[in-house]
Amino acid sequence: MRKWTSLFLALAAAFSLAACGSAGDQENIGQPPVSSGGSAPVETPFPSESEAPAVEPSKSETPDAGDAGSVLIAYFSWSGNTEQVARIIQQETDGDLFEIAPAAPYTDDYNELLDIARQEQADTARPELAGRVENWDQYDTVFVGYPNWWSDAPMAVYTFVESYDWSGKTLVPFNTSASGGFGSSLSGLEESVAGASILDGISFTERTLGDAQSEVTAWLDGLGL
Ligand SMILES: Cc1cc2nc3c(=O)[nH]c(=O)nc-3n(C[C@H](O)[C@H](O)[C@H](O)COP(=O)(O)O)c2cc1C
Repeated sequence: MRKWTSLFLALAAAFSLAACGSAGDQENIGQPPVSSGGSAPVETPFPSESEAPAVEPSKSETPDAGDAGSVLIAYFSWSGNTEQVARIIQQETDGDLFEIAPAAPYTDDYNELLDIARQEQADTARPELAGRVENWDQYDTVFVGYPNWWSDAPMAVYTFVESYDWSGKTLVPFNTSASGGFGSSLSGLEESVAGASILDGISFTERTLGDAQSEVTAWLDGLGL
């Protein structure tokens, strides 16, 4: 009997030691992980990706800019600013993008371009374009975007607007500039698009371009298209 009691006590001691070892491991697991690569959950002060609000609103939240396929976003852009705004409008409206590009591309040299643009304006030039909108009739709403060149639109933009029948269309202008906004271009456009309704446009300077995403969203919302 004493032999059995000794054996029992020995076994109890062994179990007790094993239990201590296990408690020690648990404490280690409780330490903050050294790297985030482990499987231990790491609390972060920021919402997780699934909880974070989407940066871009879903399509169902975007303003209704008419039937898909009825919106065209036509833009001229030499250095990319106006194209940036055009692409935001495209995402928000699901419209089609069309680049107003001259058949003979402009120089890459800014100073040379200043002279060329000034001369084209003095000549009321209508530079030939690289392409045209083949399915013009399908569009009800046409966004037209361009930079300010010498306080007006680039002459190629006039070539564009004068190439189509605007009866019953809605023209929505947008623009980028160093500081001059639309300049005198809106009255110039108005004369060129007989029969169109022209809505309030939006204009960005190089300084305000960073706010374009939220500004464009709010602007489109307010247009009531
Ligand atoms: C030929 C030329 C003329 C310009 N004239 C003006 C101007 O009169 N007023 C102004 O505020 N910005 C002027 N700018 C600056 C552009 O309007 C501005 O940089 C614009 O954001 C460029 O757009 P983009 O990157 O789409 O070409 C001129 C730029 C060029 C290249």
